[in-house]
Amino acid sequence: MINESVQKALNEQLNKELSSAYLYLAMSADFEQKNLFGFAKWMKVQSGEELKHADKIYGFILERGGKVDLMTIEKPQQSWESAMKAFQDAYEHEKFITNSIYSVLELSQSQKDYATVEFLQWYVKEQVEEEAQTEQIVKKLEMIGDTPAGLFMLDQELGHRE
Ligand code: FEO
Repeated sequence: MINESVQKALNEQLNKELSSAYLYLAMSADFEQKNLFGFAKWMKVQSGEELKHADKIYGFILERGGKVDLMTIEKPQQSWESAMKAFQDAYEHEKFITNSIYSVLELSQSQKDYATVEFLQWYVKEQVEEEAQTEQIVKKLEMIGDTPAGLFMLDQELGHRE
């Protein structure tokens, strides 16, 4: 049986992963409306990744005999002034998620819930990648600056994400 405080923290993390999916879906729609189809594709794939992150937690809670508590997902921002602003927000969001994972991990350790400690190792590794990829795109956007040709090329590159 899962520890009650850990179960609560996992349900909150489940909500954050679903909120992440919602945020990136909003970014995807905004990019598509601005004809940045490669950026839109990248964000759509990212949104799908977040659903998988949520699903893993959902499955884990149930596997441990716990109770899934689906909470309200807040309405995300609908529009960003630039690709740079959207990816800066994505990078900041990933750092927030990393800290949130660390908090659940610390709680699991303090509660001696070693199964959850082990489960969360996957997220610790995943967050290294999640932060790195959004940060790299922010850096590329910084290099591009206001050059439309650069933005066009990055849009092409990001559109290859599967
Ligand atoms: Fe599920 Fe992007 O962290």
